[in-house]
Amino acid sequence: MNKPINDQSLDTLFREARSQNAWKDEPVGETLVQAIYDLMRWGPTSANCSPARFVFLTSKTAKERLKPFLLENNVDKVMRAPVCAIIAHDLEFFEKIPQLFPHNPEAKDWFSGNEELARTTAFRNGSLQGAYFMIAARALGLDCGPMSGFDNEGVDQEFFRGGTIKSNFLCSIGYGDPTGVFDRSPRLSFDEACQVL
Ligand SMILES: Cc1cc2nc3c(=O)[nH]c(=O)nc-3n(C[C@H](O)[C@H](O)[C@H](O)COP(=O)(O)O)c2cc1C
Repeated sequence: MNKPINDQSLDTLFREARSQNAWKDEPVGETLVQAIYDLMRWGPTSANCSPARFVFLTSKTAKERLKPFLLENNVDKVMRAPVCAIIAHDLEFFEKIPQLFPHNPEAKDWFSGNEELARTTAFRNGSLQGAYFMIAARALGLDCGPMSGFDNEGVDQEFFRGGTIKSNFLCSIGYGDPTGVFDRSPRLSFDEACQVL
C-alpha cells in the first residue's frame, strides 16, 4: 500500500515548484546528480524498457558544446546553471529488454523488427522518465529549468554522433534565483481538462 506524502511535500513537488530561468551561484555535486537518477529510475515504463539516457553537462567546456544549438533566449539559462541535463532516449532500448524484463526476454522482439513502434515507445517512455527526473530533482530540494528550444539534430550529432540515442529536451538543475521567475501562469481547471465517465 502506498502512503500519501504530506502537504509540504506536495508544495515542494507541485504547488510551489516553478520552472527556473536564473540560478543561484550554488553548485550541484555529482553525488546529488546520482541521487536524482537513483530515484527517477524507479518510475514505470512499458515492459520496463527504460529508454531514457542522460548526459549531465557540468563544466563550462561541456556547456560550450551545447551553446551553438540553443535558442538565443535559452543561452544564459543553460550557461549559468550548475548542471544542464540532456534528456535523451535510445531508439535501440530493446537490446536491454532481456536484462530489464527477465521474466519475458522475448519482449525484445516486439520492438526489434518494428522501427515505428520502437520510436514511439522510446519517445513516450523517455518523456515520462524526463518527468520522473524533474519530480525526483524537486524531491531532493533542487529546482528545474526544462527547455525544448534547441536544435535536436545538432545536439544529437555533437553528443551522440548521430547514433541511436536521440535528444528529447534539456533540463537545467540547481537552486533557482526567484528573481528570474515571472508570475505563475494559470492551469486548466479539472472541468476544462477532464471527463469522468
Ligand atoms: C518540455 C518543456 C520545454 C520547455 N521549453 C522551454 C524553453 O525552451 N525555454 C524556456 O524559457 N522555457 C521552456 N519551458 C518552460 C515552460 O514555459 C514552463 O515550464 C511553463 O511556462 C510553466 O511554468 P511554471 O513551471 O513556472 O509554472 C519548457 C518546459 C517544458 C516542460
